[in-house]
Amino acid sequence: MLEIKNRRYIGNKNKILFEIEKVVKGYYPELNDLKFADVFAGTGVVGYHFANLGCKTVVNDILYSNFVCYNAWFGKQDYDVKKISDFISWANSIKGCDLEDNYFSISYGGKYFSVNNAKKIGYIRDQLEIYKPELNEREFFIILSSLIYAVDKIANTVGHFESYLNKVPEDKNLILQMLDITEKLDCQIFCENANDLVEKINADVVYLDPPYNARQYASFYHVLENLSKWNKPELFGKTMKFKKGRITSKYSTHEAKTIFEDLITKLKCKLLIVSYNNTYDAKSQSSINKISQADLLEILSKKGKVEKYEIDYKYFNTGKTDFNNHKEILYVCEVKNEFSV
Ligand SMILES: C[S@@+](CC[C@H](N)C(=O)[O-])C[C@H]1O[C@@H](n2cnc3c(N)ncnc32)[C@H](O)[C@@H]1O
Repeated sequence: MLEIKNRRYIGNKNKILFEIEKVVKGYYPELNDLKFADVFAGTGVVGYHFANLGCKTVVNDILYSNFVCYNAWFGKQDYDVKKISDFISWANSIKGCDLEDNYFSISYGGKYFSVNNAKKIGYIRDQLEIYKPELNEREFFIILSSLIYAVDKIANTVGHFESYLNKVPEDKNLILQMLDITEKLDCQIFCENANDLVEKINADVVYLDPPYNARQYASFYHVLENLSKWNKPELFGKTMKFKKGRITSKYSTHEAKTIFEDLITKLKCKLLIVSYNNTYDAKSQSSINKISQADLLEILSKKGKVEKYEIDYKYFNTGKTDFNNHKEILYVCEVKNEFSV
């Protein structure tokens, strides 16, 4: 069975969940019924952790493929396990070599996946679309999430789709699995620009984990976005990215400081936790932080009293980062003029 953390996702906070929990408990020893918002939720592991501790939760990300997964993991709708496992068993029995080329294999075969694997993925996704009227929304999202996790596992990449590895991809075993879902979490799910979302929500604790540098997440995960939306747009270039309508995040541009300040000003919460890491000595230009530590502190200090917690890199380092002394930092701000949620 799949767990929510079983994804390769840049900057995911799976390894520091208990550190974040410890920090929150320093302010709120009782988490039950606290409202916790994970506004740049990525995989959703942080929101899921707090939802499982009894918090009412908000999860949000600008990427649709993440929204698909949140609806599977956090959704409220009942689902028919047999329908899902029958589809999964059928999908796992398919052999790519028996199939004809399709949109997915023509786009990504021989690049991010072997041609046979890509044919199988495209065929399963087409069949899921045909089967969709037989499924409720949650069942559809659970099967699609299972496909997303399976695809991620066999991709010919270092863990994201900015580019593919310089070797011919081998046939791998694409296996869809059932999701190990916690029942009935109390969660609101969004797929919005964080700055728009915070005008609509409030929470006791808001956790912010924005992109830190010039690398766009939409570019890292374009293949999963395409698989999720499945409107088969034209792609371009060696890496087969979207030709039109690309999502870009201002958090990865020179506007990062201005929009971060706008976000903080608009936020309605009592405790604000910001994850930021010290990639100041990064080797490549694109890895350099878009907001300096001094600016971050200045912006947060206007909102309330700020404490800084450093999490030692040994909890976090994957050994694959392109910089040294990697530290994950949590800035915690006790908001003045707090309001009631
Ligand atoms: C550092 S990752 C978050 C990782 C997450 N905490 C986890 O544990 O998986 C940053 C996330 O912010 C999202 N993002 C970027 N710009 C955004 C925006 N303007 N509004 C909402 N989400 C955004 C990205 O898609 C990405 O998933």
